[in-house]
Amino acid sequence: MSYDPEIANRVLAGLRPFPVAVTTVDGGVANGLVSLSAGSASIIPEAPRATISLTKYNKTHDMVLNSGVFVMHMLSAEADQLDKSLEILMTLGGSSGRDGDKISMLRTGTGETGAPILLDAHSYVEARVIGTLDVEESSIFVGDVVASEILNDGQRLRIGEAWGKLPAEWIAQYDANHHPQLENARARRFGEKA
Ligand SMILES: Cc1cc2nc3c(=O)[nH]c(=O)nc-3n(C[C@H](O)[C@H](O)[C@H](O)COP(=O)(O)O)c2cc1C
Repeated sequence: MSYDPEIANRVLAGLRPFPVAVTTVDGGVANGLVSLSAGSASIIPEAPRATISLTKYNKTHDMVLNSGVFVMHMLSAEADQLDKSLEILMTLGGSSGRDGDKISMLRTGTGETGAPILLDAHSYVEARVIGTLDVEESSIFVGDVVASEILNDGQRLRIGEAWGKLPAEWIAQYDANHHPQLENARARRFGEKA
């Protein structure tokens, strides 16, 4: 037995293949991001729960922590919806709400909690947070589902397919944005000298 992070990462890779678009609203301001951390968090079928893990570096993290509400959207892989899915992914996952309003660039409605619903998504669950686990660089949020809808039925977009279709310039920009996020996470986990 040994500890090898490379092998650990191979074991852990791809466990959550579906990117989700998470939106929230806090003090009247709406925002959101893309996440690969979405999961189901209830064994009781009549009382579903959803979970997401958000990095503290991201604005959406602080907003969900404060407001206690989020909407988790699946994206569509259907040919007539794919461009919209990539637009959502690039808009919410490519820059921070700290640098400007992202939500007004997308077609939205308003959910039960006041958080924005992305009308071009495949589907969504809207949740109220019932528990938060602080894990140094991130928080894991678990929420009771209070509303749900299938907006555009069909196949859901997987991250492998999305990476193959995203423009190279956007991926380069994403990589550049990812760097400070990673450094921030290391500093929170290991201390400022990490
Ligand atoms: C495929 C993909 C997966 C991501 N997964 C996560 C995640 O699980 N948790 C997270 O906090 N950020 C994740 N991100 C990064 C955020 O979407 C990104 O940093 C976003 O710009 C943050 O915006 P905000 O500062 O407005 O919240 C992911 C991005 C992409 C493109």
